[in-house]
Parts: sequence; C-alpha cells; structure tokens
Amino acid sequence: MKVGVVGLGTMGAGIAQLCVEAGIDTVGREVTADLGAKGRDRIVHFLTRKVEKGQIESFDIDRLTVTTELAGLAECDVVVEAIVEELGPKRELFAELERICRPDTVLATNTSALSVTEIAAATSSPERVVGMHFFNPAPLMPLVEIVRAELTSDAAFDTAYALGETLGKHPIRCHDTPGFVVNRVLIPLLNDCVRVLDEARVGAEDLDAGMRHGAGWPMGPCELLDLVGIDVHVHASDALYDKLREPRMAAPPRLVAMANAGLLGRKSGRGFYTY
Ligand code: 3HC
Repeated sequence: MKVGVVGLGTMGAGIAQLCVEAGIDTVGREVTADLGAKGRDRIVHFLTRKVEKGQIESFDIDRLTVTTELAGLAECDVVVEAIVEELGPKRELFAELERICRPDTVLATNTSALSVTEIAAATSSPERVVGMHFFNPAPLMPLVEIVRAELTSDAAFDTAYALGETLGKHPIRCHDTPGFVVNRVLIPLLNDCVRVLDEARVGAEDLDAGMRHGAGWPMGPCELLDLVGIDVHVHASDALYDKLREPRMAAPPRLVAMANAGLLGRKSGRGFYTY
C-alpha cells in the first residue's frame, strides 16, 4: 500500500508520521523543498523521541518520500489532503489529483469544518472522495472521523476506514454535516469558553485550570486553542456559522482580533500564552 499526504504542516506531518510508523510507503507533498524538509524533520524528531522513550523500537524513514510535484502521488492507493482550510484551494487540488492519480485512488480530505461534498464536486469522480478528519496532534489523538459525503462509494469509505485502523486510530463513521461530530460540539464550546473570559472576568490561566480540574479536560480551552491555532479555529467557526447560523458558532471578536494580529498560538510563539 502507498499513501500520499498533501501538505506537511502540523496535521499533514502528523498524518505522514502515522503512515511511516505503520510501515506504509508514504509520499509527502509540499509546495517548496524547504517546507518539505521542515515536515520531514518534524516527523524524524517525534519518531526519534518515541524510540528514545522506548515506545517503538525503530522506524524506517526511507518509507517517506518528500516531493514538490503532485505527479509524485500518481501511484498512491489513498491520498490524504491536509492543505490550507479554504474551499477554493481544496477544490482546485482535488480536480488536479483526479487528473494525476489512478482512477481507483481514494481521495481523502482532512478538512475540519468544510463540506466534503463541495470538495468532491470539483471532480468528475466524487464517489472516490471521502473525509478523514484527524485531531490535533494527529499522532497522539486516537480519533479519526471517516466522513461519508453525498456520493461517496462504499468501497472508498471502507478503504478510508481500514486505513484509519491500520494507522492505529479509533475510526468513527459519520456523514457530511457541518463540523461532523466532534467539531459540531467542540467549536461552539470553545467559543463559549472564550466569551466566558470576558463575561466572568476570569484570566486564561484560571479558566484553563477550571476546565482541567473541574471538568476533567486534559488541557484547558485556551491552551487547546493555542495548540489548534487561533486562525484555524476562527476559520472553522466561520465555516460552521456560515452553514448553521447559530450565534455560538460565530468566532468571538477577541479571537478574530488575535488572528488578525498574528497571535496564532504555539505556531507563532504567542496566543493566549507565550511560548
Ligand atoms: N506530534 C507528534 N508527537 C507529539 C506531538 C505532536 N504534535 N506533540 C507531542 N508529541 C509527543 C512528544 O514526543 C511528547 O513527549 P516528549 O515531550 O517527551 O518529547 C509526547 O508526545 C507526549 O507529549 P505530552 O507530554 O505533551 O503529552 P500529554 O500526555 O500531556 O498529552 C495531549 C498531550 C494528547 C495533546 C493531551 O494534552 C490532550 O489530549 N489534549 C487535548 C487535545 C485535543 O483536544 N485535541 C483536539 C483538538 S480539536 C481538533 O484537532 C479538530 C480540528 O479540526 C481543529
């Protein structure tokens, strides 16, 4: 089996890491050689840590090929897209993947909150398009949502589900409704948390401690938003609000201002916290 991953940012690198760990031949595609090298370094770093900690014996990084050419994905059985969370670029990419890949290649999107059906509609073979929604950090979070779009075939769905299992994840089956299962709940909940910061005049640290120690969350909402990326969360909120028009889904102005100011969380060095 051969798996392609388009985009080696936080999510794509995590997904490619899972593939390498599972011993799958993996092709990672980035737009520049420099970004490709960064993704590869990230994968090597986390896999090396796992070896150092005795969680795995070894890994074979030669399973991973990094390329800037989409044509490098031609021989893949499954391609997982993890590029920027915008409909236009995703639709363009899927139209191109359809031209480049074999007719039986399953084309999966890791979108958080966009419509898989709308992405699939950019191709003339929407039956092979499916959602594979991983959670951040992909190597650590056990869940993957396998999303059935309007025209997804059983064969494509089953292939994606089986790949999720091969990668050691706990897959769940769901349909292409806004936010699927987890983000439908989590995004408005995180937005509520941010609104509470102002309403309850509480600081990020106290809110985080409250949710960790009072609700059993593994990390507080502000820490989690910094991990996910403020920009990514604002995008996902906009996409959900666009579809469902529930006020809780709209990104709170505080988050929009943070995103505009480049306070994106861990990846920019500053969000609710400084890193
Ligand atoms: N990739 C790969 N490996 C990683 C990693 C990453 N991004 N981050 C950490 N690791 C590895 C490291 O090697 C680390 O060990 P080291 O520090 O000794 O090198 C090891 O994992 C363990 O890290 P931690 O000590 O930080 O692990 P914790 O036990 O504290 O758990 C956690 C971390 C799993 C992130 C836990 O805090 C958690 O479950 N948090 C909640 C995360 C969550 O809710 N994610 C979902 C976000 S929503 C989403 O993704 C949807 C999307 O659509 C927006």
